[in-house]
Amino acid sequence: MKLAVIGTGYVGLVTGACFANLGNDIICVDKDKERLLILEKGEVPFYEPGLPEMVMRNHKAGRIIFTSDLSHAVKKADVIFIAVGTPPKANGQADVTAVFEVAKDIAKNIKGNKSFKVIVNKSTVPVGMGDIVTKILVENNVSEKYFSVVSNPEFLREGSAISDFLNPDRIVIGASNNKAFNIITELYRSLNARIIFTSVKSAELIKYASNAFLATKISFINEIANICERVGSDIKEVAYAVGMDKRIGREFLNAGLGYGGSCLPKDISALLHLARENGYDPQILNSVSEVNEFQIDAFIGKIIKTLKNIRGKKIVLLGLSFKPETDDLRDAPSLKIINSLTKKGAIIKAYDPAAETTAKKTLPNVQFCKDIYEALKGADAIVLATEWPEFRDLDFEKVKKIVKNPVIFDGRNIYDPKRIREMGFKYIGIGR
Ligand SMILES: NC(=O)c1ccc[n+]([C@@H]2O[C@H](COP(=O)([O-])OP(=O)(O)OC[C@H]3O[C@@H](n4cnc5c(N)ncnc54)[C@H](O)[C@@H]3O)[C@@H](O)[C@H]2O)c1
Repeated sequence: MKLAVIGTGYVGLVTGACFANLGNDIICVDKDKERLLILEKGEVPFYEPGLPEMVMRNHKAGRIIFTSDLSHAVKKADVIFIAVGTPPKANGQADVTAVFEVAKDIAKNIKGNKSFKVIVNKSTVPVGMGDIVTKILVENNVSEKYFSVVSNPEFLREGSAISDFLNPDRIVIGASNNKAFNIITELYRSLNARIIFTSVKSAELIKYASNAFLATKISFINEIANICERVGSDIKEVAYAVGMDKRIGREFLNAGLGYGGSCLPKDISALLHLARENGYDPQILNSVSEVNEFQIDAFIGKIIKTLKNIRGKKIVLLGLSFKPETDDLRDAPSLKIINSLTKKGAIIKAYDPAAETTAKKTLPNVQFCKDIYEALKGADAIVLATEWPEFRDLDFEKVKKIVKNPVIFDGRNIYDPKRIREMGFKYIGIGR
């Protein structure tokens, strides 16, 4: 099939590359010219394992091309995916300006077209956006006979995006008619995944509800961790046993610094906003968000309390990205830790295997190191903010010799407190 994918971020580029790999012809569109230059060179503008190889292979085979020319792309395509960003506004509401812009551009360019096109919204958008996109097209004189708007939310995770896209737990297709549903089903057919047919509005809410549930699991286990700390239980033991119950499940039960990243915080805020706008104040979601704020503040509080006067102290952050295997820093807990500690006069050094380039743009006061041990030299404290695999195998004998003060704040509970303490470190984890 001929596809246009508008937006070449984490979702758009993975969608384009994977569908190209499945044998479709893809035109990827972005308005960011710098990004397009990088893609034209066969490179990927962000860190995502396996993606550069897949993009390069399909680009060379002529199955995926990159352009800023939306007009050409949408005229050629049978299916048009919208995969632009929907960041949070100051009041928490999803900012759908980019989706509006793209919808208007599509409308202008397919006006008078006489072949049926499916416009698929892959961006995470408030319920009702499908209707709004339809209205924009109709108001621009595009006949409803020749298009249909579908919601096909994306559930991939950064860091394992390709595998998630190709092996989804389910594919949700929210459509208002069988014709559009069948076209999108055909597109995904070779994945052999479970396909769920819903209304457009249900599909839009399924994405928010899924992320809200994941965030709830994280805040829930953090709340239990905070109880563990006060009563002498160990959250690792508790979470392991709780998660063994099939009704609960082990995933998303790791106590830590709370949820961050480009999706969960913004999607919870957007869902809260959507609910309030429609006359309902969601009590669980309010608490999920509050617990998340509390979690990071409490961790920063532990650092300040333990180190006492932190002015001039050298604090080393291990990991900056919001989770391993990505360079995405959007709403990463590390940012809040760094901002709070630098405000109090701490000197921050950091090491991250992938996020240094992204971080340099937003963290001018941080000294970045190319090597973990170089970063740890003379440290007054180590703060583990992201559980990159390489941090698990630190040579603590070596670390002990090069730090000034052997204190470790393990924001992801990856170390064994007993072992670390026996080696002469002060260990502060979460819920243990
Ligand atoms: N990142 C994830 O893990 C993830 C997972 C599932 C769903 N989502 C959702 O998917 C959507 C996209 O997220 P992302 O992380 O890929 O975003 P992103 O910020 O990485 O990429 C968005 C891209 O869209 C481009 N763009 C913006 N306006 C445009 C326009 N008018 N014309 C052409 N291109 C335009 C930007 O230049 C950018 O390259 C969001 O709604 C997000 O919530 C993201």
